Amino acid sequence: MTESAVLRTDSERRTDGGGAPSKPPLQRIWSQHVVLHRSVRAVDQWIDGLGEEDSLDLGVQLLEQLEHVLPEHFALEEQGGYFADVLSIAPQFSSWAAELQAEHSRLIPRLDAILSELRGKVRDRARLLAEIRDFVRCIHEHEAGETELVREAFRGSTLQRSA
Ligand SMILES: [Fe+2]
Ligand SMILES: [Fe+2]
Repeated sequence: MTESAVLRTDSERRTDGGGAPSKPPLQRIWSQHVVLHRSVRAVDQWIDGLGEEDSLDLGVQLLEQLEHVLPEHFALEEQGGYFADVLSIAPQFSSWAAELQAEHSRLIPRLDAILSELRGKVRDRARLLAEIRDFVRCIHEHEAGETELVREAFRGSTLQRSA
């Protein structure tokens, strides 16, 4: 199956009998993480191997791919309540989750701004590449934060059960 086919499958919104979208299983969210990580890693590799005189065209393609993957990923995470399953067992982490969710609405416009600059006449290449590197670092941090949230929530529930 191609990556775009995977994305199309993920873009289908599933509902329970026509009501509000139901929470996708955690397993489905995690498998979508794989698609995101592949897309982000492709940007990482492109920028690491980029020579001073190289065209930025491939970067436009890779970031356009991310432009599809990232909102898809965030929408899936937010469908039915951001980490609702996790917060149901660890409600003490709700403000941590709220901070992570707020990052979604900051990362999307940032990617839009990068892409519109990349598609136009790039005036300051070094600054733009530094911005892309920082943006990618922020996505990695965001994802690591989510992994940590899930890990801590399940660790806490395991400790409670064994106490
Ligand atoms: Fe997220
Ligand atoms: Fe995520």
